[in-house]
Amino acid sequence: MKDGKAILHAAEIIRRGGVVAFPTETVYGLGANAFNPLAVARVFETKRRPYFDPLIVHVANPADVEKLAKQIPSNAKKLIERFWPGPLTVVLLKEENIPDIVTAGLPTVAIRMPSHPMALALIKKSKCPIAAPSANPFGYLSPTTAEHVREQLGDQIDFILDGGPCLVGVESTIVSFSTRKPRLLRPGGVSLEEIQSIIGKVEVSSAMESRPSAPGMLARHYAPRTPIMLDLGEKDLSSYKNRKIGFLLFREPKKSFKKEHIEVLSKKGDLREAAANLFSAIRRLDASHLDLIVAEPVPEVGLGRAIMDRIRRASKHINEDYANGRV
Ligand code: TXA
Ligand code: MG
Repeated sequence: MKDGKAILHAAEIIRRGGVVAFPTETVYGLGANAFNPLAVARVFETKRRPYFDPLIVHVANPADVEKLAKQIPSNAKKLIERFWPGPLTVVLLKEENIPDIVTAGLPTVAIRMPSHPMALALIKKSKCPIAAPSANPFGYLSPTTAEHVREQLGDQIDFILDGGPCLVGVESTIVSFSTRKPRLLRPGGVSLEEIQSIIGKVEVSSAMESRPSAPGMLARHYAPRTPIMLDLGEKDLSSYKNRKIGFLLFREPKKSFKKEHIEVLSKKGDLREAAANLFSAIRRLDASHLDLIVAEPVPEVGLGRAIMDRIRRASKHINEDYANGRV
């Protein structure tokens, strides 16, 4: 199907209350009409996502925020002006018209305007905002290609709009304006440095908060089936001598580093390129029947913050077990 036709078809499904996977510049989303609670319920069922975890509402025009949020603080306006369309989500006090199922009963709503042309066209043709989480089963890595979606949810959804691989590769940055001071809830495609250059200091939620303010900030998330460990020294590796180990490397390793299963996120050590490759690389390692994936840390600046956040969450469980001598 040609792109234009596919978009019209997908929009028709959304209007009729169906569920469609669609590309954004960050990751693929699983979308439904944000004003149709039954359609949104199907999104939760398909993902097996707990109802306490709210969804992001996607719009195609910054002016639509006024219809969804009670008020837009000036700092939120500044971020919207600077970063939309793009990988930034703002959390604002919600307007009554948004169904509770979308926001998990919270008084706030998360809103974002994606920049992928197919996402924008889909929202416009659907004539409604689209509520969408990432298009993966709950707790697994987000999909960055249509193929990833097909493999895991293909038989359960009405349509997959294929827009090629996602250019950013990690989810949007979430900034909440529900309290007096803006707060970073999730590092993502827009760096903290960029955000602070526009609105000054932003409070940062700890990545491993035990009682998350955003339910989806659960510490163990994005988890592949294969255990991932961060930063393992050669010494530690000796206990894995006869096991199959894969390596998720930030940059090109030394010639002497000869291992069978290696994924290099960015040969030249570019954080943007690394983010774009992250989830696909972990998926390939996860499909290689390994006993363990060892991840090399990346510098925690710019997009590196989002990358390390995702790797830490994916590895949370195994690192705890390791520290407690259970591995
Ligand atoms: O890049 C993205 O943000 C992608 C694409 C599809 O737009 N979407 C995405 O959605 O990552 P999801 O559902 O996988 O992650 C959304 C996060 C969750 O952690 C959720 O808890 C949080 O946003 N969230 C949603 N509404 C919220 C609210 N009202 N207050 C605080 N956190 C909220
Ligand atoms: Mg997700």
